[in-house]
Amino acid sequence: MSTIFRLDSSIRAVGSQSRAVASTLEDAVREQVGQLDVIRRDVGVFPLPATAWAFATQALALGVHSAPKARGERTADETTAMALATDLADEMLAADAYLFAVPLYNYGVSQHAKAWIDLLITEPRFSVKVPSPIAGRPAYLVVARGGAYGPGTPREGWDHATPWLRRIFEDVWGLNLTLIEVELTLADVNPEMASLRDLAAASLGQAHAAARHAGEQLAKQWMASPAHASTPA
Ligand SMILES: Cc1cc2nc3c(=O)[nH]c(=O)nc-3n(C[C@H](O)[C@H](O)[C@H](O)COP(=O)(O)O)c2cc1C
Repeated sequence: MSTIFRLDSSIRAVGSQSRAVASTLEDAVREQVGQLDVIRRDVGVFPLPATAWAFATQALALGVHSAPKARGERTADETTAMALATDLADEMLAADAYLFAVPLYNYGVSQHAKAWIDLLITEPRFSVKVPSPIAGRPAYLVVARGGAYGPGTPREGWDHATPWLRRIFEDVWGLNLTLIEVELTLADVNPEMASLRDLAAASLGQAHAAARHAGEQLAKQWMASPAHASTPA
């Protein structure tokens, strides 16, 4: 059986376009392979504690030139934070492919997604100092943006989330990443963007089509591989 790890980070449980596009990809894989295990981590609705990263970092003395604390020296908060990091790492290692759905907030990465990445990087198996244990695995990043930031737009270059996420997923973790973007998602609700509604609809349609295609391609890849063979539904 094949397994996808899925991260959702929209603060909206309802009406989220990053969730909708990610679901299109997930559904496309499931339709093809029949059975699909999905490990879900929804940091948008169930955020990780904002303090966990600092506790884990301090317990492990990361970024400073001193030894990690021995087990008996760790505070309860540090022990809890490290255990959470271990859970996150185990979830990642248990998957064959990754689906990350991340909105653009305030021109940057969702703080909930960043808290998840930062805590994961404290885990020794996902440290930036060791070879990535998930290098080469397929991954899909669905980015949703209220505006548009492409070449020639007034805010070209203001999306500081997508380049950073690519740096982590592609360069640090070595994932084989496909980017799926949906833009102008605020056009339907912001009267000042009314003239952009057709473009927004086109962007959404393209994102769903790209997600469906990506899901079908992943399923094909899996079905061609004996390690992933499963019985179609
Ligand atoms: C607090 C907040 C800040 C946002 N900041 C930006 C922004 O800087 N740039 C942008 O293009 N859209 C911004 N948006 C819009 C979201 O990116 C957009 O609504 C996106 O579709 C959210 O993802 P979702 O549809 O999966 O919920 C912001 C939305 C919220 C709630």
